[in-house]
Amino acid sequence: MMETTLFICIMLTCAVATQSVPPTIQGQTSTLPHLTGCFSRELMTFRCQWETGSLQNHTEHEDLRLFYILEKDSKKWMECPSYSSIRENECYFNSSNTVIWFPYVVQLRSRSLDIVYDEISFNVEDIGKPCR
Ligand SMILES: *[C@@H]1O[C@H](CO)[C@@H](O)[C@H](O)[C@H]1NC(C)=O
Ligand SMILES: *[C@@H]1O[C@H](CO)[C@@H](O)[C@H](O)[C@H]1NC(C)=O
Repeated sequence: MMETTLFICIMLTCAVATQSVPPTIQGQTSTLPHLTGCFSRELMTFRCQWETGSLQNHTEHEDLRLFYILEKDSKKWMECPSYSSIRENECYFNSSNTVIWFPYVVQLRSRSLDIVYDEISFNVEDIGKPCR
C-alpha cells in the first residue's frame, strides 16, 4: 500500500526542489551563486546542482562548497559526500547518503564557509524526477 501510494505520487508529480529564480534583469544585474535544484531519479540516490552566477571572480567561483544536514541526525553540517567529476557544480549523494522521509537542508557556501549563498530544503521522496 505504501509503495503503491509512493509510486502514484511520483508518477503524478515530477516535483522538483527548486527555489524561485533570483530577480535579475537579463544582461544587467549580476546573479549570486545559487542552487538550481536537487533531483532523485529512483529515490535511492540524488544529486544537487548549482550555478555559479555572474560573479566573475574565479577564485570564489571554483571554491563553492555544498553542505547538508539531515535533521534526523545530529545538528552537524556535513560537506557534500562526492562532488561530481562528470558535471561541474554538482554534488552526488549515493545510496549510503540518501535517506527518505527525513528533511534535508542543503546550503551553497563559499570556500571560506563564511558566506551562505543559498539554501533549500526538501525530502528525497518529494524530488523524484521520473519524467526527464
Ligand atoms: C574575489 O574574491 C576574493 C576572495 O574572496 C575577494 O577578496 C575579492 O574582493 C573578490 N573580487 C571581486 C571583484 O569580487
Ligand atoms: C557512498 O559514499 C561514501 C562516501 O561518502 C562511501 O564511504 C560509501 O562506501 C558509498 N556507498 C556506496 C553504496 O557506494
